[in-house]
Amino acid sequence: MLERLRTRVHEAGLSNVEVVQGGFLTYVHQADAADVVYSRYALHHLPDFWKAVALARIRAMLAPGGVLRLSDVVWNFGPEEAPERIEAWCATAGTQVEGEWSREELEEHVRDEHSTFTWLLEPMIERAGFTIEDFAHSKDGVDAQYVLRAR
Ligand SMILES: C[S@@+](CC[C@H](N)C(=O)[O-])C[C@H]1O[C@@H](n2cnc3c(N)ncnc32)[C@H](O)[C@@H]1O
Repeated sequence: MLERLRTRVHEAGLSNVEVVQGGFLTYVHQADAADVVYSRYALHHLPDFWKAVALARIRAMLAPGGVLRLSDVVWNFGPEEAPERIEAWCATAGTQVEGEWSREELEEHVRDEHSTFTWLLEPMIERAGFTIEDFAHSKDGVDAQYVLRAR
């Protein structure tokens, strides 16, 4: 991902972008408070305890009024619906053609990664010091996009 970003930055001719490697739980922000943090399909790699820690760390690096734009696979249904919702999602998988997710990959996501429920994540977001300013939950209940404002 870092290599792709470096290539994009180079192609765009930008000279004011510093690419650094750091995790949600390890990155140390040494510059001024940030205006924006963007996280896409990454937070689900952390179990919920660590998601809460990561959200608090992101909040701490943002200026008041700053924005966290968060996109991820988040389950917008109850546990009782999980078997059919998850099966419906896995059934959307393509074949192994590049650019598509295979069924095996979606099953691996459900089994080994840490996507959580919207009704668990959203209180964590608020508790970390964000106001949910805007959100979109996909119709199939597996994708959520948030605009979160640092209080
Ligand atoms: C499915 S990829 C998404 C990549 C990219 N953000 C995108 O949307 O195309 C998941 C990303 O989460 C990152 N990741 C996993 N654990 C992480 C952690 N603890 N802190 C920060 N990033 C992490 C991985 O390095 C990987 O780049």
